[in-house]
Amino acid sequence: MQILFDPEEQLFHLQNKHTSYVMKVTEEGYLAHLYWGRKLRSSSTAHLLKMIDRPFSPNCNPENPAFSLDTLPQEYPVYGHGDFRVPALEAIFADGTSVVDLRYRNHRILEGKPALAGLPMIYTESPHEALTLEIDLFDPVQELQVTLLYTVFSQIGVITRSARLYNAGQQPIQLTRALSMSLDLPCSSWDMMQLSGAWGRERHLVRRPVVPGMQAVESRRGASSHHQNPFLALMASDARDTHGEVMAVNLVYSGNFLALAEQDSLQQTRLQIGINPADFSWLLEPGEIFQTPEAVLVYSAEGLDGMTEIFHNAYRERLCRGLHRHQPRPILINNWEATYFAFDEEKLLQLAEEAGQLGIELFVLDDGWFGQRDNDKTSLGDWRVNLKKLPHGLAGLAESIAEKGMKFGLWFEPEMVSPESQLFREHPDWCLHVPGRRSSTGRHQYVLDFSRKDVCDFIVHSVSEILSSAPIQYVKWDMNRHMTEIGSACLPVERQRETAHRYMLGLYAVMETLTTRFPEVLFESCSGGGGRFDPGMLYYMPQTWTSDNTDAIERLYIQYGTALVYPPITMGAHVSAVPNHQVQRITPLATRGIVAMGGNFGYELDITKLTNEEKNIVAEQVETYKQIRETVQFGRYFALANPFEGDFYAWMFVSQNRQQAVVSCVTKLQQANHAIHRLRLKGLDAEAQYRVELVQGMSYESDIYGGDELMYAGIAIPYFTTDFQSCMWKLSKLNA
Ligand code: DGJ
Repeated sequence: MQILFDPEEQLFHLQNKHTSYVMKVTEEGYLAHLYWGRKLRSSSTAHLLKMIDRPFSPNCNPENPAFSLDTLPQEYPVYGHGDFRVPALEAIFADGTSVVDLRYRNHRILEGKPALAGLPMIYTESPHEALTLEIDLFDPVQELQVTLLYTVFSQIGVITRSARLYNAGQQPIQLTRALSMSLDLPCSSWDMMQLSGAWGRERHLVRRPVVPGMQAVESRRGASSHHQNPFLALMASDARDTHGEVMAVNLVYSGNFLALAEQDSLQQTRLQIGINPADFSWLLEPGEIFQTPEAVLVYSAEGLDGMTEIFHNAYRERLCRGLHRHQPRPILINNWEATYFAFDEEKLLQLAEEAGQLGIELFVLDDGWFGQRDNDKTSLGDWRVNLKKLPHGLAGLAESIAEKGMKFGLWFEPEMVSPESQLFREHPDWCLHVPGRRSSTGRHQYVLDFSRKDVCDFIVHSVSEILSSAPIQYVKWDMNRHMTEIGSACLPVERQRETAHRYMLGLYAVMETLTTRFPEVLFESCSGGGGRFDPGMLYYMPQTWTSDNTDAIERLYIQYGTALVYPPITMGAHVSAVPNHQVQRITPLATRGIVAMGGNFGYELDITKLTNEEKNIVAEQVETYKQIRETVQFGRYFALANPFEGDFYAWMFVSQNRQQAVVSCVTKLQQANHAIHRLRLKGLDAEAQYRVELVQGMSYESDIYGGDELMYAGIAIPYFTTDFQSCMWKLSKLNA
């Protein structure tokens, strides 16, 4: 990794192992984007900046009519002096105007990476791991300083960017748009890829050609959302899994975001990501700083596989934190789909008894254990155990579960309050609301106002009390509605539009305190399934419940899309009952097992109701996952067949030392008399021989093949004749 500065050309060249990123300060003092792509040995790319006098493009320098901000490829464009494309920053100044002019003033190259006050980010463990370039841009009229932060890393292939805004003047500045990054790619044709969906079908892959004008994905829901993920990639039109250029951005943030691609009339494409300007503004008083969230940039010349590998390594190693980062995650059983709210201690212990005997390691008690919570209409906020359901309290329950050989975990939904609760009766102003307007409910609940310190303190106290009251080794942190009527009783009029972002800062502070106070607890975030599956959450909680949809076939799409960016160790995946509770589909238990083993494995069904034969299958699955767990959770993941394009999804994991691999394949609807498909494996040692064991239902076959044969010729998928079939191959390298 290097950051080079050429003072003569005023050129910055950032390099990591495979990538170069080049910028230049123009004669007029603007920061231009020159190049992002495969690594260049040195950069003399200044010649690439060709400016031509174009009709209707204004000139800020009358001496040089070819120069116009309208066409200049830029790094952090603003509005007012002739760039008519979408800006990265917008503000209203004390004089009522909005013209901004940011020119280069200074820069610094630092060892390591500075923390971003109160925000999640890719971190370093030693200053030698990274170099950071800080470039100060300055508007002398309004005395606004924008510092652009760029970090390159020695071991991980991402570049991170953010912006720090500082009011150096005497008058307040109202920021109305402050994105994390922007860059202008040269004339080319791109496809845009996004991960879109809804509750129960999160992160489905959507790919479309970029056309002139703006195309964007965003969330205005107060959460990153099920609907759009804070991710966007530009791909060369011919880019596929293993080849072609991909340029991706992902925002380390869990609230409202905007990600966009704007193609201008010269076929240049502006790529941006950051906090959504909708219902956002920030009052920057003299001397104050606003720090944007961080954007993670990934360039791959090797298609989606290359992009995925870079994101996975970065997130596993330098986004997720804490004791659990490198610890194999326990196989869990969650009682939600087994009992919903209708449980008591006896029922839970029956489930636990069975689960312990089958080798399951962690018992998770979901919603319904507190207050009067027998349905979803009441008690959120009243975090006191319901002794009618659990007469021996949480401690008593956890002890009995420990006797059955399992750890104990607990569900919370700390950001919410039920109108029917003691908390709401005592503090009606503690939820987000706008005086004089009705407050909408969602799942019969209101959102607590985490922009308030007293609310955050109360939640830290309530959750801490429970966690200290019993041996609780895992927490599922849920969040089940989106924000409406966003306003805070504690903020002045001119700061009301800061509420949603201040909420996120409050939430992050609460999570930081609790995860630091209880380092041994494994936290899993959740938002009605995967409604906040984003890098911001992963910084605090190293795993996420991928989706409330547990149907094995629907999960193929969800897990494929999620794993494009997020490592499988972060993806909660459970075997549930049939008919499936979300889509009523019936799939074989073997298939449900193989799909759930594509992530962080668990069960969510009433195992006391299984037949003996089914229990044997569960015991086998648990044993299999224990054998392959390290490879799945810490190995390299590859997609082998895309479920959005064909009749099946196939994927594999290869351990870092390439000694073990696991290949899985699941079919959707069957065709009569269908073709035999081959899977070409990836990431193996071509020179080595592998023992390949096919596990199909309860039967096994074993053979030996070369890594080269497996990768270049492939292996044939068994000839399935019914729907929703699956198989798994376990590969072990034979040492010569
Ligand atoms: C939504 C979650 O995604 C489910 O797994 C479950 O925890 C329910 N909430 C409980 O209310």
